[in-house]
Amino acid sequence: MDIKVVSGEITKVESGAVVVGMFEGEKRLGRELGALNRKLGRVVITSVEKGEIKGKAGEVNIFHSLGKIPAARVAVVGLGKKEEFKLDKLRAAVAESCRALRQKKAADITILAKSAVDGRKFSQEDYAQAITEGAILGLYTFRKYFTKENDYKEVKKLTLLSPKEEAINVIKKGSNKGKIIAEAVCLSRDMINEPANYMTPSAMADGARKIADDNKLDITVLEREDMQKLGMGALLGVSLGTVQPPKMIILSYKGRKSGGIDLALVGKGITFDTGGISLKTASGMEEMKTDMSGGAAVLAAIDAIARLKLKINVTAVVPAVENMPDGGAIRPSDILKSLTGKTIEIISTDAEGRLILCDALGYINKSKPKAIVDVATLTGACVVALGKQCTGILGNDQSLVNKVIASGSEAGEAIWQLPLFEDYRENIKSDVADIKNSGSGGAGTITAALFLSEFVGDTPWAHMDIAGTNFTDKDKKYNVKGATGVPVRTLVNLAIKMS
Ligand code: BES
Ligand code: MN
Ligand code: ZN
Repeated sequence: MDIKVVSGEITKVESGAVVVGMFEGEKRLGRELGALNRKLGRVVITSVEKGEIKGKAGEVNIFHSLGKIPAARVAVVGLGKKEEFKLDKLRAAVAESCRALRQKKAADITILAKSAVDGRKFSQEDYAQAITEGAILGLYTFRKYFTKENDYKEVKKLTLLSPKEEAINVIKKGSNKGKIIAEAVCLSRDMINEPANYMTPSAMADGARKIADDNKLDITVLEREDMQKLGMGALLGVSLGTVQPPKMIILSYKGRKSGGIDLALVGKGITFDTGGISLKTASGMEEMKTDMSGGAAVLAAIDAIARLKLKINVTAVVPAVENMPDGGAIRPSDILKSLTGKTIEIISTDAEGRLILCDALGYINKSKPKAIVDVATLTGACVVALGKQCTGILGNDQSLVNKVIASGSEAGEAIWQLPLFEDYRENIKSDVADIKNSGSGGAGTITAALFLSEFVGDTPWAHMDIAGTNFTDKDKKYNVKGATGVPVRTLVNLAIKMS
């Protein structure tokens, strides 16, 4: 989609549609909507007076202009109550209106990019960023495997319209930032939505190489033999049940030119999780193609961080492995030796995420990063505890955890902290090895995080469990059915905060 920023009068633009926001319960129309209303013979205000347009969040009303203005349609989108306004409501409103207009086959959409709220609280730049993100994220589709286009017409052009010429530059800046971030989210969605027969560990490594090439980043992909030399017995154990060779991807961006790693991002890259010998039940297993969402998120985040040229050194680490149950597979009761030397008793081969992550964490921790954030579709227990509306977070450093939560809040990605209480550690004690990979006594998200904590030493570390938030089964706000791309925007905001 081609994105432009122009200045001019809304009643004079030529476009498939012009989109204008409206707050809930406002009886008077804003300047631009008022002008459109007059040109259209008072159809907008009449609808407001009749209670047909309420301005509720998510409400979209589309009018044909019947040649009274150059734009073919006017879309009025509800922004909810003015007192409750947040940029995330704008993202959602833009997404919903763009999707509604696409359904009407509008190929070219113009959005009024004038901040309708307090300009000190929401700058023109942030406003433009949110509009661009909402449009790109909301219009996302994954269509590559359809062999014919059923009744679908793509939106080809998006224009952000500023009534004021002076505002053009800040709007361009915000829009460009939003474009980079939203495209990174879509990149992660593409990788996640790809089925596991295509998105193998090798394909993930190829995807990472492309990101490295595009941004001139350093990349290393460890092969099985490299990992054997390093003693990554936990990761290699998971790889024993599949014919797909395991890969460990290390992608580095140096925005500060010198110095060590400021932020290490580690993402779970299980390209398909059958459960292994502790086989999952068939129902819903197809969703396990998304078990590499954490890996895709950290790769996409580093792509955006590099494109934004942030002054920070970030390394993304993705252990990429397929979890299958063939004759070579590990079994419950096996004992694996991790990279750090700790031995692990396997209770469930379905608790494989922590096995690949512990070796990735142990590996990157040797480079002494200033902070580590890992992202993983780690536990079904997290979905039980928090549902699909927010990501779980746990960590050994409250200030880092707070930074991640604040970064998410700005992005509209909700995150809720669970306690990493030491009392739970006895649940992962093993009778035959240093620890076991599946805890007894409930609190599955906490015991999984405690397991990971054993491999990061004293390094400030936060762990995000995205098992509930990586995927949605319906179009909602700026997410569309399938991968959400959570928490790419949180990670990029975090890097911005830390740079
Ligand atoms: N990938 C799953 C977690 C998951 C479950 C993500 C549902 C999304 C939706 C993970 O590898 C897993 O299987 N975890 C087990 C751990 C248990 C065996 C200790 C789980 O949550 O059941
Ligand atoms: Mn599993
Ligand atoms: Zn898994």
